Formats: sequence, C-alpha cells, structure tokens
Amino acid sequence: MKASASRNNSWLISNCAELVTVAGSSPRRGRALRDIGIIEDGALLVHNGKIAAIGDRRRIENLPAARRARKLDAGGRVVLPGFVDSHTHLVFPASRAVEYEMRIGGASYEEIARAGGGIRSSVRLLRKAPAAVLESQARGWLEIMAAHGTTTVEAKSGYALNLAGELKILEVQKSLGRKQPLEIVSTFLGAHVPPPEYRDDPGTYIEKMSRQWLPRIVRAELAEYCDVFCDRGAFTVDQARMLLTAAKKLGIGLRLHAEQLTNTGAGRLAAELGAASADHLDQVTGEDIRVLAASDTVCTLLPGCSFHLGLRDYAAARKFIEAGAIVALATDFNPGTCPTPNMQMILSLACTQMRMRPAEAITAATINPAYSLRAHDRAGSLEVGKYADIAAFDVADYREIPYYFGVNLCAFTMKRGAVIYSKNL
Ligand code: NIG
Ligand code: FE
Repeated sequence: MKASASRNNSWLISNCAELVTVAGSSPRRGRALRDIGIIEDGALLVHNGKIAAIGDRRRIENLPAARRARKLDAGGRVVLPGFVDSHTHLVFPASRAVEYEMRIGGASYEEIARAGGGIRSSVRLLRKAPAAVLESQARGWLEIMAAHGTTTVEAKSGYALNLAGELKILEVQKSLGRKQPLEIVSTFLGAHVPPPEYRDDPGTYIEKMSRQWLPRIVRAELAEYCDVFCDRGAFTVDQARMLLTAAKKLGIGLRLHAEQLTNTGAGRLAAELGAASADHLDQVTGEDIRVLAASDTVCTLLPGCSFHLGLRDYAAARKFIEAGAIVALATDFNPGTCPTPNMQMILSLACTQMRMRPAEAITAATINPAYSLRAHDRAGSLEVGKYADIAAFDVADYREIPYYFGVNLCAFTMKRGAVIYSKNL
C-alpha cells in the first residue's frame, strides 16, 4: 500500500478487490444478515473524516474531487467497515492467568468465584490501582484493537463496586475517548457482582446505586448505558429490573448480561424493558428466543467466552437468526472469561462453532452492534455521509477473514478519515 505525501483532508482509497459496504437499512435480521453489499473493484472518496462517495473504482476515480485527494492504494485487499465491539470490560487491573490454570486443572468459573476469586479478585486490585496506570493499560489494548480492525468500542465499569472506584473507571473511559482515536461508548456496570461490603445484602446495594450513584453518573455524563450481570452468583431478575428501571427513568440506555451461566429469564427482562442489548444468551430457551426475536433488543453473542472457558456449548446463533433476532457479535474482552481484544478471532469462532456464515458474522460485527450502541447513524457501514471508519484485510475474499484464524490479517485501519494503524505504510 502506498500513500502519497501531500497534506489535505481527502483520501481516495482505491483498488479494493471487495469493498464490503454492509449498506442499507439497519438493523439486520434473518436472511438480510447475509446482504453485505459487496462492490468488486471498488473505491471510496473520504472528505473531512466522512465518506463522500463510494462505488465502482472507475466512477469514483473520475470524480473531480478524486484528483485532489491523497491516494491510498488498498492493494487488492478486502475493505470493511471497522468492527464495532459492543461488549468489553476494557479497564481492568491485571490478567487472571492463575485462575486460567486452575480452570485447566478442573475448577469451574463459578467455583473460583465462590471462593473469592473471579470478578472479586479483579475488584481487590482495581480499587488500589492508580487511574493513570489503568488508563495506560487500557490505551495499550485499544491500540491492539485498532490494529485488528476495530474502530468503535463499548467499555463497561464494574471492577470497583464502590462509588469512588466506579467513577475512576468511568473517568478513565471518558479520558480515553478524548485522547485516542477509537470511539468509546461507556456503560455503568456497578451491578457486576455484589461487592464484599454488601455480600449479604445485595438489595441495599441495588438501592444505593439506583438512588445515589446513577443520578450522579448520569449528571456527570459518564455513562450512556447501564448494565447488570443477572445470573446465579450475581443479581436476580427483580434486582436487575429495579436498577434498570431507575436507569431508564434517568434517560440512559440499557444492556444486560443475560443467561450466561443459567436460565434466569433475564433475556425476557431485556425485551420487556426495551434494552438496547441482551448479551451472552448461552442458556436461553426456545420461547425466550422468540420473545427476543420479536423485540428490537439486539442479541449480542460472545463466543470467545465459551472458547476461553473451555465449554462445549455455544449460544444458539442459528436459532436466533432463524427466529428473526437482531444478532450481534462482540469480544467481551475481560480478564476472566475472554481475554481476546481481536474481533477477527470472534468471527472465526462464530463461523466454526456457531455455524454463522461469514457474511452473517460480518453484519453481526458491524452494523448490528452499531445499532445496539445507537451509533448506526455514523458507524457500522460504508455509506455516503457516514464516518470513514474502515479496516482493510490481507485477503482477496471476505470469507478468508474468519477462515484464516490465529493471525492478524488487518493491513490498515482508518478512523474518521485518519489512518490509525498500518502494517507497512
Ligand atoms: O461478561 N459475566 C460477567 N462478566 C464478565 C466476566 C467478568 C470477569 O470474569 O471478570 C463476562 O463474562
Ligand atoms: Fe461481559
């Protein structure tokens, strides 16, 4: 790939073997997940960070504005909208590789959590960690995400479980949104697990968050969403309903960790409350799939968790797609259940383990998660007027993106018209 040296606000990106636009109405359900709008030998014109024109290479190259633009030769690669990773726990203090080895030895995720490990071990470390250290670690991970083709990231708090610490995480996320190029959408997950101080009284903790913490967080514009881990060992459906109802009244959006370990009815709750997203859904049953599919709640599947936890069962992606649900894919990047920040790997798992077609997986990693973050007006597809959030891959056929796994195929990433990663520019 060669980029010309002149400085201006326009780029002509040409020589894309396949320009995968994912253009059209969002969100996508059912068979429409396969419509990824490929333009063969395509090109795009970018101006002031947005897509000014897109289409057949000859037509775009002949536009008068194309002559003045800097040239970026995509070298016959496949070009996609940047991935939208709509579920991460980006700010965490340290790895939990010790627990990884315990699990390999036979201990389960829940057994480790009951013994005071798991999320609570991250909480102990995070409360002591300086904001500057957390920020620089998270920034490093964001650079790795960008290098793998991700351009928008949702990030959750939830490893402090006290007000000062939760504010510390949310402020780190806000600061990262200003200091580095990826867009960060912040979610308050104070209801991750009951903190040690409220271990025997989670109801009081939920009330405190509903009445005191949330209003303050919303006033300070530190979170666009509120999330609850609603599962065995975390919070009940009633507790989740109370906190999420309070969040809704304050005007922020809702997300829910639902049906990961057990079937609790949390998926239905997400649909009932009009949540933007219900995530995990590994244990969801037939009727609940129909309820979710009939709603506008995005079903965000996280196959990296099953993979990392060494589980045989993956979420029933085909049933969700056949029922007409809005299916999305995300990493769930976190130190306990899925330590990969790489969306390409998630696509491979979705295809091989959940039998999603490569085209379905691409839609589920771009426009559908963008919809779940209400960012579909600006991200998730390549269309005139949208931000030039672009990822180019070292392949000639989009199916090779999930097919080659365990390697980084991303050749360059552009965010709002700026090249933020390049293998060899
Ligand atoms: O999405 N399920 C709850 N939360 C995370 C795990 C967090 C952790 O183990 O640190 C998840 O899997
Ligand atoms: Fe999660």
